[in-house]
Amino acid sequence: MTAPPPIAMLAELTHRCPLSCPYCSNPVELARLDQELDTETWARVFREAADLGVLQLHLSGGEPASRRDLTHLVRAARDAGLYTNLITSGIGLSQQRLAELDEAGLDHVQLSLQGTNPEMADEIGGYKGGFKRKMQVAEWIGAIGFPLTLNVVLHRRNLHQLPRALEMAVEMGARRIEVATVQFHGWALQNRDALMPTREQAKEAMATVAQARKDLKGTLVVDFVPADYHDDFPKRCMGGWGTSGLNVAPDGEVLPCHAAQSIPHMTFDNVREKPLKDIWYKSSSFNAYRGTEWMQEPCQSCDRKTVDFGGCRCQAMAIVGDASATDPVCIKSPHHAALQAQADAHSAKVDAPLTYRVGPVKAREPVT
Ligand code: SF4
Ligand code: FES
Repeated sequence: MTAPPPIAMLAELTHRCPLSCPYCSNPVELARLDQELDTETWARVFREAADLGVLQLHLSGGEPASRRDLTHLVRAARDAGLYTNLITSGIGLSQQRLAELDEAGLDHVQLSLQGTNPEMADEIGGYKGGFKRKMQVAEWIGAIGFPLTLNVVLHRRNLHQLPRALEMAVEMGARRIEVATVQFHGWALQNRDALMPTREQAKEAMATVAQARKDLKGTLVVDFVPADYHDDFPKRCMGGWGTSGLNVAPDGEVLPCHAAQSIPHMTFDNVREKPLKDIWYKSSSFNAYRGTEWMQEPCQSCDRKTVDFGGCRCQAMAIVGDASATDPVCIKSPHHAALQAQADAHSAKVDAPLTYRVGPVKAREPVT
């Protein structure tokens, strides 16, 4: 099939991060500091992305502010003509640094929220004082006037804070909030007992979001990723594999999605060795699950196959052991009932401890 050009690129600038969220979507094997792409290589990749058709660049991590050259990277991305969005916990950003990012042309900030009070946020992020710091950063972001999206990951421990998170987004002047129920990849997969929402929580969150969308129409856009283990149809993961977006890992590997390295038979090309354009159009990884030809039954004959593209390949791999299987979230999957029972069993483990993400092996670079 002929693929369309990508619209968005996620640049995972580093896996280093001051927080240790137990649901971190980064792979369990994190890239070390000495494996990270340097400033010049990233700048070249940004130019190649723009030539390929990418419009939006999401600068992410880990914590992208852990990169000392973040301002240079933003400037390079703007020079390449890309719209730049910084996805950050706020930790590592000073008022001065935000002003420099503004000056370099940063277009948008997406601030993550681990909880709506210090007790919850600092416990989940594993970083004492993180919430207070984040609130300070939110004020600076507002003072500069960056368009802001608040990004909150919900799970069994903090789902009751959703109404307050919505209020906080309005108070901060955010234009959008992304409410994502935890997706079980990376570190989150190891924390299903501690984080799995109950079925009741999943339903309540749907109702809260539906009400907020009515009440806040024109003020705040509410994006929502539901608790899919409790759902009957899967999400259209990545908008369809190799369809609209790509991720570049800190070491330069180009991934069709952030969890693609969890598919063991797959190999990935690297921007150090190949142009981004060749990787997007010709690589075996991007072509593996593009379109619909690779699908098995029941997806192959399903009328939703171009709606959700069979759901999430990484979830099929993690649960069924076959990345080309129907996402087990789907009610038509032979594994659906078992997944729902598994979700209920995980959510009943009330005393399960959190397993925090640990940082890359090599010592962290100090944040300036
Ligand atoms: Fe989607 Fe496949 Fe389920 Fe149909 S059978 S709804 S295509 S996941
Ligand atoms: Fe990889 Fe969904 S996270 S396809």
